[in-house]
Amino acid sequence: MEEISHLQSAQSKAIKSGDDEELAEISLRPLDLSDIDDFMVWASDEKVARFCTWDPYTSKEEGMNFIKNVVIPHPWFRAICLNNRPIGSISVLAFSGTNRCRGELGYALGSKYWGKGIATQAVKLVVGSIFREWPHLERLEALVVVENIGSQRVLEKAGFTREGVLRKYVVLKGRTRDIVMFSLLSTDQVSISTTSLHL
Ligand SMILES: CC(C)(COP(=O)(O)OP(=O)(O)OC[C@H]1O[C@@H](n2cnc3c(N)ncnc32)[C@H](O)[C@@H]1OP(=O)(O)O)[C@@H](O)C(=O)NCCC(=O)NCCS
Repeated sequence: MEEISHLQSAQSKAIKSGDDEELAEISLRPLDLSDIDDFMVWASDEKVARFCTWDPYTSKEEGMNFIKNVVIPHPWFRAICLNNRPIGSISVLAFSGTNRCRGELGYALGSKYWGKGIATQAVKLVVGSIFREWPHLERLEALVVVENIGSQRVLEKAGFTREGVLRKYVVLKGRTRDIVMFSLLSTDQVSISTTSLHL
C-alpha cells in the first residue's frame, strides 16, 4: 500500500527537465482519435517497431483504424504522456477462462525519448494500479525478444522476475526468435522507488 501511494505521488509530481528547466510530468491516460498525430510519431518509427510484432504504420488512416478498432475497445490501453501529450503506449492484455489469472504487459515509446527512464516509470505506474483495478489478476507477464536488452532492463528495474528463455517462441519480422519471459505476481514484494528521470 505504501508503494502504491509512492507511485501516485510519482504520477502527479512535477519533475524538472533538461536545460530549460521546464516542468515535465509522466502520466498515463486513455488514447483517443484526437491523439492521432502524436500516435503516428512512434507508430510509424521503424526503430520502435523493430522488436515488436507489428510493422511501422504507413498512413494516418491505418493509425485511425487501429485506435478505433483496437485501442478504444481494449480492456487496458493507455498513452504514456509527457506533460499530458502522448509519447508512447502501454497496455495489459487480459486472458480469460483458465488463463484469467494472468495479463500480458506491452509498451512502446517514441525513440526521441529513449534512455531517460520514462518506460520504467510507466511500467511502475501500471504495477502500482493494475492489481487493484483487476483483483482477479495474480500474474502480470511480459515477453521480450532476447536481443531487446533495453526492454529487459526496464522490467528488471520495475521489479519483474526473469523466468527464463522460451526458445523459438515467436516469428518476428520473418525470423523465429527466442523470448525472455518476465513476470510479476500480485504477491511479490516490490520495492518501488521513484525512477529518476533525465528529461
Ligand atoms: C524498450 C523501451 C520501451 C525502453 O524505453 P526507455 O524509456 O528508453 O527505458 P528506460 O530509460 O526506462 O530504461 C532503459 C534501460 O535499458 C538500458 N539499455 C537500453 N538499450 C540497451 C542496450 N542495447 N544494452 C544495454 N542496456 C541498454 C538503458 O541504459 C536503461 O538502463 P539503465 O537505467 O540501467 O541505464 C524503448 O526502447 C522502446 O519503446 N523500444 C521499442 C518498443 C519495444 O521494444 N517495446 C518493448 C517490447 S517487449
